[in-house]
Amino acid sequence: VVPKASPPAARLAVLGGSGFLGAWLVELAQRNPSLAVASVSRDPAWFPRPRAAERFERMEVDALERDELETALSGWKPTHIVLCAALSRMADCSGDPERAHRMNVDLPHRTALWSRDRARMVYVSTDLVFGATPPGPRGFDELATPAPLSDYGRSKLGGESVLRVHARLDPRHLIVRLPLLYGPSFGRELGASDSLFAALERGETPRLFSDERRTPLDVRDAAAALLELALGDHVGLLHVGGPVAIDRYSFGMSALLERGFSAEKARASLSAGLRSDAGLERERPADAALDSTRARAVLRTKLRGPSEALADRGD
Ligand SMILES: NC(=O)c1ccc[n+]([C@@H]2O[C@H](COP(=O)([O-])OP(=O)(O)OC[C@H]3O[C@@H](n4cnc5c(N)ncnc54)[C@H](OP(=O)(O)O)[C@@H]3O)[C@@H](O)[C@H]2O)c1
Repeated sequence: VVPKASPPAARLAVLGGSGFLGAWLVELAQRNPSLAVASVSRDPAWFPRPRAAERFERMEVDALERDELETALSGWKPTHIVLCAALSRMADCSGDPERAHRMNVDLPHRTALWSRDRARMVYVSTDLVFGATPPGPRGFDELATPAPLSDYGRSKLGGESVLRVHARLDPRHLIVRLPLLYGPSFGRELGASDSLFAALERGETPRLFSDERRTPLDVRDAAAALLELALGDHVGLLHVGGPVAIDRYSFGMSALLERGFSAEKARASLSAGLRSDAGLERERPADAALDSTRARAVLRTKLRGPSEALADRGD
């Protein structure tokens, strides 16, 4: 007699599973045989590599359409939710603050409402909740007071605030602040490194700011950390940044050198600029470095620095 396989112990819904980060989260989650995974987005047709069909669901949901999300969640009954869906580009948020509010504040609120007493929720936030004040010597830790500069940062901080209110009723929730993400995007030219390589292939000379300091993290490490945290029991707030604080231009140079460019060719391929050259100094923080000391103590997942992660072309 063939023993009947027991159903997966946990059911993870990735809201925004088609995005740069969400796709990696779905990809890594599918490798865990004790997980059922649902990828939720408006266009769930795209997916890198569907693996275990019996444990994988794609859900077509426009989270801004009334009740579509709540109906989908009630049908599939996740035990864990990671909210990656967002209006994630700064320009989109400043161009449409009302949509930014609906995606980045109302959506976390509605997701937390649905989750209450049903699912543990992880809300993905950003280092750009900081910027109006300078960080401490090791970057912003979890006790630092957020002070965003942009509509994007303000809306993400708004999402955090609603989560904190919900956490009073369901204290299992977790907010994870991530930094600038880079790394492979399944050929979609997303993230800080693939978008750079794509611009070079189009013959452009991308301008990167030398006065913009971040603690960038490989998207695969960010997704692995989120998965570990979602299935764990850490609550509250955690900064999950890379171990190296670096300016955007130097990061771009590292990415090109790792791709095999000579130093001379790399320098000729990029232009170093200042935020003020583009009139963006009031919107883009000079320094949003995260201090991720707590995350490194909590996580088994290694948060690699750019030189190690950029050299890793695998998946
Ligand atoms: N990328 C970074 O460098 C970075 C850094 C720090 C924090 N974060 C945070 O990480 C999260 C993921 O970022 P990302 O770069 O992966 O973003 P992304 O590539 O723009 O993905 C956004 C996701 O949201 C979904 N979405 C957008 N509107 C929707 C709607 N109305 N209904 C349902 N789904 C919708 C998109 O799918 P469809 O378009 O198919 O609907 C997509 O799956 C965000 O919360 C962002 O704030 C990102």
